[in-house]
Amino acid sequence: MRLDSLSTLNYRNLAPCTLLFPAGVTGVFGENGAGKTNLLEAAFLALTGLTDVTRLEQLVQQGETEAYVRADLESSGSLSVQEVGLGRGRRQLKVDGVRVRTGDLPRGSAVWIRPEDSELVFGSPSGRRAFLDSLLSRLSARYAEVLSRYERTVSQRNAALRGGEEWAMHVWDESLVRLGTEIMTVRRRALVRLNELAAEANAALGSRKPLTLSLAESTTPEAYAQDLASRRAEELARGSTATGPHRDDLVLTLGDFPASEYASRGEGRTVALALRRAELELLAERFGERPVLLIDDFSAELDPGRRAFLLDLAASVPQAIVTGTERAPGAALTLRAHGGRFTPEVTAEPLPGEPLAEEVRA
Ligand SMILES: Nc1ncnc2c1ncn2[C@@H]1O[C@H](COP(=O)(O)OP(=O)(O)OP(=O)(O)O)[C@@H](O)[C@H]1O
Ligand SMILES: [Mg+2]
Repeated sequence: MRLDSLSTLNYRNLAPCTLLFPAGVTGVFGENGAGKTNLLEAAFLALTGLTDVTRLEQLVQQGETEAYVRADLESSGSLSVQEVGLGRGRRQLKVDGVRVRTGDLPRGSAVWIRPEDSELVFGSPSGRRAFLDSLLSRLSARYAEVLSRYERTVSQRNAALRGGEEWAMHVWDESLVRLGTEIMTVRRRALVRLNELAAEANAALGSRKPLTLSLAESTTPEAYAQDLASRRAEELARGSTATGPHRDDLVLTLGDFPASEYASRGEGRTVALALRRAELELLAERFGERPVLLIDDFSAELDPGRRAFLLDLAASVPQAIVTGTERAPGAALTLRAHGGRFTPEVTAEPLPGEPLAEEVRA
């Protein structure tokens, strides 16, 4: 997968621009608040249609009502244009001018690695579930569909519990068990490969403690119906569904202990990196093409060895964009970020008569 160019309009603090990206690594450096993370976020949105902000309005430049991002990309030799329009809390996606749904964009097109990934390790189970669910949804459109139906069922069932509608429970339970069982089954199956890949990446990162991924399930496919029945009174009292895959955790064990409670900051960041590399490998295996890699703040919280791992990873994919407050070494193109603008850095002395980067931009 290759991102040939990215255009943005009214996207956060970014000045309207079209940036061309070469194959290999593009380094983006600049001071805090320059717009580096916003650029990667815009690229990820244009490539995948995905964002994790709670309100889409956050992405629209203050004072504006609509924003737009566009990716011109190259996948298995063919060219396409993906556009995302944002406005009035909605996102509209187009591929080559035709409106599509989020799931219709190429789902393995990008992986985004950022310092906040540590929250996967240290944060609550919901963050780890979201990681697993979003990865599985990208690997399988069917999983995405089943998950969204399951989540809707849980919230409707919760409303019925709060309304004391005990008589309706056998109908809700039937759907919940059917959808929940499929979710558990897919998660279990995917975890085998995800665990292998994450363990490998963790070892490659120089970690001396082995990493193991496992599921802490609140029930099993076999016991689900029975567990629901036996907790009925408690559920009616609390007005919420007490058991099922929406309560499960992805347990990350480093050495002998759960990383969420015992890992150091840097160890946590390493585990998160191992998860992201596993994500990249799984997407590449599934779609037969390596995603564009977006790395935010490549030096944050990392020792030189782990920084080198990240830069090697960037060099191992057809294309990567790497940001930092300092220059990433070995980049094919370096952009300096300042006030939402990106200017190519001239590495060699300009030839007499050749314009400076600043002049190129103007
Ligand atoms: N909707 C918005 N409209 C206008 N500006 C915004 C909007 N959302 C965020 N910003 C601003 O964009 C600026 C750049 O943010 P960004 O996170 O991209 O910086 P950064 O270069 O990654 O900085 P750091 O090195 O600190 O990570 C911030 O000053 C932020 O206030
Ligand atoms: Mg940033």
